Amino acid sequence: MTTLVIGAGLIGSQVARILAERGERPVLMDVAAQTTAIGQIVDLPKVTLVQGDILRPLSIVDVLRSHGISRIAHTAANPLLTVGAQREPYAAINLNIMGTVNVLEAARVTGLKRVVVSSSSVLNHYLDGGEDQGNFGKEEAFPRPTTFYSATKQAVESLGLNYAKWCGIEFAGLRYGAVFGPWSGAGGGGPSNVIREAMRNALAGKEAAVPPGAMEWVYSKDAARGTVLALDAKELGSRVFNITMGAMTTPAEMAEAIRAVVPGAKVKFEAPAGTGVSLSNRDHHADLARAKRTLGWEPEFRLREAVKDLAEWMRRHPA
Ligand SMILES: NC(=O)c1ccc[n+]([C@@H]2O[C@H](COP(=O)([O-])OP(=O)(O)OC[C@H]3O[C@@H](n4cnc5c(N)ncnc54)[C@H](O)[C@@H]3O)[C@@H](O)[C@H]2O)c1
Repeated sequence: MTTLVIGAGLIGSQVARILAERGERPVLMDVAAQTTAIGQIVDLPKVTLVQGDILRPLSIVDVLRSHGISRIAHTAANPLLTVGAQREPYAAINLNIMGTVNVLEAARVTGLKRVVVSSSSVLNHYLDGGEDQGNFGKEEAFPRPTTFYSATKQAVESLGLNYAKWCGIEFAGLRYGAVFGPWSGAGGGGPSNVIREAMRNALAGKEAAVPPGAMEWVYSKDAARGTVLALDAKELGSRVFNITMGAMTTPAEMAEAIRAVVPGAKVKFEAPAGTGVSLSNRDHHADLARAKRTLGWEPEFRLREAVKDLAEWMRRHPA
């Protein structure tokens, strides 16, 4: 059994690490792999790194055939997620929607079953409307996504579920919270860059800045472990799963977690300009019951453990 991990970034490289550590040899495909950063997460000799572009469907089929792939974890994305999609909607729509369709089509034509796709908890947060409250006869029965990024993720989930229903693909869409974790490359989304920058400053004795509003996070190692559990699950059904810490983290809580590993750190509540953090205006958090019930997944890293693990990694990998 060989797993294809598409997108060798913040999350994809962790997925490959987990698979490699248990003795598999995953194929890691990226359009522009950042080898140094990936090598700090996963032992490169234990994975097969290939160049490939999800916007070129035949290149996906080629990788599936030439490496005997039996399942796919698809994590490819534009680097700044919500903010990137607001800046360049067409590119984000093309990559997120058509890129994912290309992956699902490649799976369909090659008879491959399991495809796990990264969705996002923006679908729990970046919504508005729905004033007709589920009344099917009305125009505003359901809330709608309020950003291009969340609109693409909603399309991805809907299309994936239809590929499951009509084409026999075992589709899972994982709604990760805002992810942070070890990573020294570009991309990874605005939120992970802000937390990494905050930690870098705190470790250097400088003032750290954390997002000024409550956010729902997940540590990258937990996001990746959820992904692997979705790849492995015997009975998946065609499902969408919340993969978050299951809590809204306030700026004060994030500051406390940083001070717990860097005593005396000065922390201000302000996302540095241009970092790509956008804040939800909602304060509910995801229900993790389905991920626990079906995948056996719960976060291993709550906020404090996650921030501690990141600090330890950054001390070992100074910029
Ligand atoms: N990082 C977050 O906060 C977050 C939160 C929720 C959901 N997600 C989702 O999780 C997934 C992974 O996010 P990430 O943070 O690991 O992103 P990332 O930017 O770290 O990695 C994405 C990788 O995809 C690659 N890629 C881009 N276009 C490609 C293409 N056409 N073909 C092949 N590879 C391509 C990039 O080169 C990059 O290495 C994305 O779908 C993202 O929307 C991320």
